[in-house]
Amino acid sequence: MNFQTRITELLGIEYPIIQGGLAHLAYSDLAAAVSNAGGLGQITAMSLETTEELRHEIKRVKSMTDRPFGVNFAIGQHGRPFEHMVDIAIEENVPVISITGGNPKEVLDRVDGLDMKKLVLVAATRQAVKAEELGADAVMVVGQEGGGHLGKGDVGTFVLTPEVADQVSIPVIASGGIVDGRGLMAALSLGAEGIEMGTRFIATKEARAHQNYKQAILDATEDDTVVIKRSIGSPARVLRGPWTERILEIEQQVTGYEYLKDYISGKVNQNYIKHGDSNEGFGWAGQSAARIKDIPSVQELIQSIVTEAENVKNKWNK
Ligand SMILES: Cc1cc2nc3c(=O)[nH]c(=O)nc-3n(C[C@H](O)[C@H](O)[C@H](O)COP(=O)(O)O)c2cc1C
Repeated sequence: MNFQTRITELLGIEYPIIQGGLAHLAYSDLAAAVSNAGGLGQITAMSLETTEELRHEIKRVKSMTDRPFGVNFAIGQHGRPFEHMVDIAIEENVPVISITGGNPKEVLDRVDGLDMKKLVLVAATRQAVKAEELGADAVMVVGQEGGGHLGKGDVGTFVLTPEVADQVSIPVIASGGIVDGRGLMAALSLGAEGIEMGTRFIATKEARAHQNYKQAILDATEDDTVVIKRSIGSPARVLRGPWTERILEIEQQVTGYEYLKDYISGKVNQNYIKHGDSNEGFGWAGQSAARIKDIPSVQELIQSIVTEAENVKNKWNK
């Protein structure tokens, strides 16, 4: 099957499959594995403390693959500056950047005119239209099924994707709830020209997540994720567990970032990622966890998605 779309053309990749930004999980080894397998791997810049660390990770990806890769910038994190990190991506001639979590204008302006492809993650049609106006090369639309931060509107991937595809002329990448070849074909049918996946990539051999995190994804049913941080206007989907139940209890009692900050910090997120203790931290994940049953290598995963998509196509052709 020919997987060429405007996204594969734009990004110079073989398959229209993108690994989403994954805070404290997407480092050079995962990014390089995805790019080597024919997709677009990404390093998550804002998980790194310093510009030196980011430069090191970028150089490491370059040493592991000669294929295109991206750097993801989750901006708008409680006043945390990001400009100096973007400058490293510019200095290192990173082929692709993705931006999420705030108004992308500043970053888009900063890289304007450079030979760098710009993806903007959005969760509403008006944000997609705005991103196109501001100069994004493509938009990734994330539905409310997805892991991590979501739109406030609770709109699912199946509605958001075709709606955005009808409203913008740049290519659209569907995200949220996609784990396999059926999801890829569904996304293409909805008018997307690529898919982005987050949760699926955590349950791979290359992801630096504690075994308990990966196992929790394998064990999850469709009821095993919940949305936290809704009370502070920043909904985000996590695996259900003792720590996240406490967060939900607090959110029912009081409202305000100050009451939640110690429960939702990057530090407690990393507790879970590194030590796998759901009494001491939490892990972001999407509803798609219910559909994940194995821990393949990234290469095996991407090949299985491609094969399944081809099987779907063959069935349609009968
Ligand atoms: C553990 C985790 C961390 C995430 N961190 C980021 C991030 O730092 N930046 C970003 O743009 N998106 C982040 N996301 C969102 C993903 O890139 C992607 O949009 C989302 O996971 C898609 O839904 P899915 O999990 O159903 O595939 C994160 C998602 C997860 C599951």
